[in-house]
Formats: sequence, C-alpha cells, structure tokens
Amino acid sequence: MFVLSEEQQALASAVRDFCVAEIAPLAREDDEKEHFRKDLIHAMGEQGLVGVATSEDYGGLGLGYLDYCVVLEEIAKVSSSYAVSVAVTGLPQVILTKFGTDAQKDRWLPGLASGEYLGAFALSEPDSGSDAASLSTTAVRDGDDYVLNGTKFWITHGGYADIYIVMARTGGKGSRGISAFIVPGDAKGLSFGRKEEKMGMRASPTVEVILEDVRVPATDRVGDEGIGFTVAMTALDSGRITIGATAVGLAQAALDYSSRYALERKQFETSIIDFQGVGFMLADMMTGIESARLLVHKAAWLKDNGHPFSHVAAMAKLAATDTAMSATTDAVQVLGGYGYVREHPVERYMRDAKVMQIVEGTNQIQRLVLARHIKRGLLK
Ligand code: CAA
Repeated sequence: MFVLSEEQQALASAVRDFCVAEIAPLAREDDEKEHFRKDLIHAMGEQGLVGVATSEDYGGLGLGYLDYCVVLEEIAKVSSSYAVSVAVTGLPQVILTKFGTDAQKDRWLPGLASGEYLGAFALSEPDSGSDAASLSTTAVRDGDDYVLNGTKFWITHGGYADIYIVMARTGGKGSRGISAFIVPGDAKGLSFGRKEEKMGMRASPTVEVILEDVRVPATDRVGDEGIGFTVAMTALDSGRITIGATAVGLAQAALDYSSRYALERKQFETSIIDFQGVGFMLADMMTGIESARLLVHKAAWLKDNGHPFSHVAAMAKLAATDTAMSATTDAVQVLGGYGYVREHPVERYMRDAKVMQIVEGTNQIQRLVLARHIKRGLLK
C-alpha cells in the first residue's frame, strides 16, 4: 500500500494524460462561467473513470476504491469540480451495488458506470444539513406507489442528473423513519429551483431540487422501508474517501504549482524557494499532503478488503480537506500578489478547497463521528 502497483501507476498516468488534454484547457473557463459540461463526464465514462469501483458485470472497471482514489486524485489536480462530479456519481453506484435489487442494478448501473447517466444524492434540506435524520421530505404510500413531497438543498448535479437517490420520511421522527428512493431525472413533479452562486467549485452545479407529488413505484424504493438513513450513511462513508482523494489531488496541484513558481521566482537575486520562510512552507505542505494521502489510501484499502472503515474515512476526509485548505492558502501566499489574481490557478484552488471542508459532512461532523467512535471503544 505504500507504493502503488504498476497497474495503478499506469492508471494514474493514463488519467493524467486524459485530464491534461481534455479538462485542463477548460478548467479556468468553466470556473469563471460557472459552466458544467455533462459531456465531459460522458467522455470520462468512456475511459472507465466514472465506474472505477463498479463491477464489470455492470460496465464498471471492477477495481477497488484505492484505484478510484488514484483516478480522482489525478482528475482533481486539473479540476476539483469535475473530480467532485465523478465522486458524487459514485454515490448512487455504491448505494445500488449494496442495497439495490437486480432490476434496479440492471436499469441504472451500466449507464452510471459508463458516464452516460449522471447521478445525484439528495439528502440535505433547507432545515436539515448536519442533522440529516431530521429531514422532512415525505414519501407516502399510495397503492403500489409512493408519493414524494419536499425540497432538497445543495444537490450536486441538480437539474442535470438522470437519477436521484432521494431520502424521504416514510415513518415517524428520527433516523428509523427514513427510506431511500430512486427518482429519475425526468419524473413528473420534479423541478429545480435556485442554482447556487458559489465561492468555489463553480463548474460543479449545486441546485435546489423540488419534489411535488412525485410518484415513485414501490419497486424503486432502495432497501427496506426505514433503512434509508443507513443507506445514506453507508454511501457517505465511501463518499468521504472519494472527497478525501479529491482534496489530496487539489492540494498536490497547489504544491506542484507553487513550488515550481518558488524555484523560478527570484527576489534579492535568489530563488525564493531558498528562503526558509518559503521553503519550509512547501515542506509543511508536502508533509501534510503525504500524511493525508496515506490516510485516504488506508481508508480505501480497508473498504476494499472488507474491514470496518467508517472512522478511518472520517479521519481521511477531515485530514485531507483541512490539508487542502491550508496547502492552497499557502500556495497563494507563496505566489504573493500573483497568487491573488486569476492569471494563476492557485486562487481557484483556494476557493475550491473551502467547500471540501463542508460537503459530505462538515469537518465538525467528522470530528463528532470520531469522538463517538472513541467513546464506543471505551464503553466496550
Ligand atoms: N453506516 C451505517 N449506519 C450508520 C452509520 C454509518 N456510517 N452512522 C449511523 N448509522 C446508523 C446508526 O447505527 C443508527 O442505527 P440504529 O437506529 O439502527 O441504531 C442510525 O444510523 C442513527 O445513527 P445516529 O444516532 O448516530 O444518528 P445521528 O442522528 O446522531 O446522526 C451523524 C449521525 C453522523 C451526525 C449524521 O447525521 C451525519 O453524518 N450528518 C452529516 C450529513 C452529511 O454528511 N451530509 C452530507 C450531504 S451529501 C453531500 O454533501 C453530497 C454532495 O452533493 C456533495
């Protein structure tokens, strides 16, 4: 695990070539124009990059989360927005793989794994963010159907996705009253509200999703009634690994760019990398990134090998996204005045990093998950 296999190194190299050729030229423009290219996800899908960990039986590469992390890190070095898209499209895949019926898998997984379909995960609501179990979207049984009503907030791919996994209340208060549903993007009664104008991650659309009497056949419920919260949390455990990998890629891009700059930039007739104030900053960035990468890879390895990984995924997400925030901030500092203007990508990296400390569970929630894990261990 400390050295990637030859296959993984070859995968990283192929993804890097693809991203440099196909995504890098668009990254700045898409950030500035808040433009999302669904066809780029399709193109990545054709390369196998969208269904890395999904079974070959359903058109995926049938590899593990460690390979998925390798892929995401490379995409994020070029555009964290598109890496997040690939990570979020992984959520329905991991959900359907674990909880879906054969019919649900046959219907959706091949399209998701190939990038033909875009996926979305609809948990958060205006009044239910960190306290996900308090969600108020309802799903009321009506014969062979459920009728869904409610509003979902901050939904990546809202309005673009072909399939939404929607968490809705079928029972009483709390986590045990929640069920998960497949809602196709063209479902009657599904509409889209405000597209958020964000500080960063601007090529990734974040949109309000409105469900008004959306009728879903009971066969499109994912898992039993009442296990929707577990479905969501299980997906987020895996999702936090992918967000961690994305953050590592973003932080590495910041280090690569700022260290090259620090070598070339001369002040007082010396490369600024030779000043300890700058060189030590780069050294700390490198150490933080490598530590975070090891945690992300460990979480992925645990998942791939069937071990409990929830708490390691929380540590990985926490460490990697905090590292991305500090590394990108320091990268701006290394570039000085040049770092603060859009001619160089580091200001975009810094804006993109901030949201990573918030999505898929704020870093305060990761700490809460970890504190509970420690407490459970003590009470055993
Ligand atoms: N895996 C499986 N089951 C889990 C679980 C996990 N990781 N965590 C909790 N559960 C189960 C528990 O075992 C418990 O089950 P029982 O009722 O059978 O005992 C049930 O879920 C309730 O657990 P808790 O009592 O721990 O639940 P809680 O209400 O205290 O909440 C929480 C726990 C960790 C705070 C959770 O609410 C949470 O993770 N909140 C953050 C939400 C979040 O990450 N949102 C991100 C939105 S998605 C996003 O950002 C996507 C995007 O588009 C980028």
